[in-house]
Amino acid sequence: MLLTQRAAQVLPLLLLRLLLELTELPSATAWLKFNSYTALGRKRTDLRKKCPNVRAIRNFDLELMMGNWHVVQYYASTEELPEYACMRSNFAFSSEDQHITMNFSYIFAEDPLREKLQGNITWLIPDFGTPGHWMHTEDIYEGIYNTYVLDTDYRNWGLIMHCAEKKKHPRYLSALLLSRQPTLGDNVITFLREKLPRYDIDLSFMFAINQTLCEHLMESSKDDPLAYIVNGQQSITDSFKLINKP
Ligand SMILES: *[C@@H]1O[C@H](CO)[C@@H](O)[C@H](O)[C@H]1NC(C)=O
Ligand SMILES: *[C@@H]1O[C@H](CO)[C@@H](O)[C@H](O)[C@H]1NC(C)=O
Ligand SMILES: *[C@@H]1O[C@H](CO)[C@@H](O)[C@H](O)[C@H]1NC(C)=O
Repeated sequence: MLLTQRAAQVLPLLLLRLLLELTELPSATAWLKFNSYTALGRKRTDLRKKCPNVRAIRNFDLELMMGNWHVVQYYASTEELPEYACMRSNFAFSSEDQHITMNFSYIFAEDPLREKLQGNITWLIPDFGTPGHWMHTEDIYEGIYNTYVLDTDYRNWGLIMHCAEKKKHPRYLSALLLSRQPTLGDNVITFLREKLPRYDIDLSFMFAINQTLCEHLMESSKDDPLAYIVNGQQSITDSFKLINKP
């Protein structure tokens, strides 16, 4: 239980929950549900069993999509309240192993120390004819788990969506609205959000991520005794292992 709490502090909950949803850890999921005040939240009407069919973006240029992005809005079928700030991501394609890695950093919006937390996710491209469709490389993901680039103009904005299906569970669906700059015009945000309800996404659960004053965050350090005490700091690798092998 304690280990799971620690893990929760190193991975954004939306990604951590995905891992938990897919790896059967009932107690951990219960803790997370409690932690995010799900019991107090509105009843959700946007939960479905199956992942939607997604048509891969046409003429997608993977190279142009790579690089740094700000995550300015996000949705996750397991999240009912906005929790993050300063979420940034960097996409890199390695021609050596043909994998896409997204490393990301973020803080919890309510964290008075504004401590930067980090993680990464790696995908492979199952079919280079549709390079906007990615699948996870980690073997912890049982079942179907797909990531789609829904749209991007490469230079300013992008929209990606993940969906996972598992037997006897509702699907896990999340979407990230990306911007090269810390802010994105309201008209573009509206244009991109409107692509989501067709996948049964309830936009009232799609939250803005504050990107102000994000330049001087407190660096996480295992060696920092204060960070250790306050946050139960632990490396992301260890957390993955702990989640993976209960
Ligand atoms: C991603 O990794 C690169 C290289 O290690 C680093 O310079 C960058 O700050 C990282 N970005 C995020 C958002 O974590
Ligand atoms: C965004 O974050 C900054 C810095 O913490 C804060 O001053 C501001 O009030 C926040 N804005 C919103 C809309 O929450
Ligand atoms: C991703 O995270 C793992 C585990 O912490 C780390 O070993 C690896 O270097 C990271 N990869 C990148 C590209 O940041």
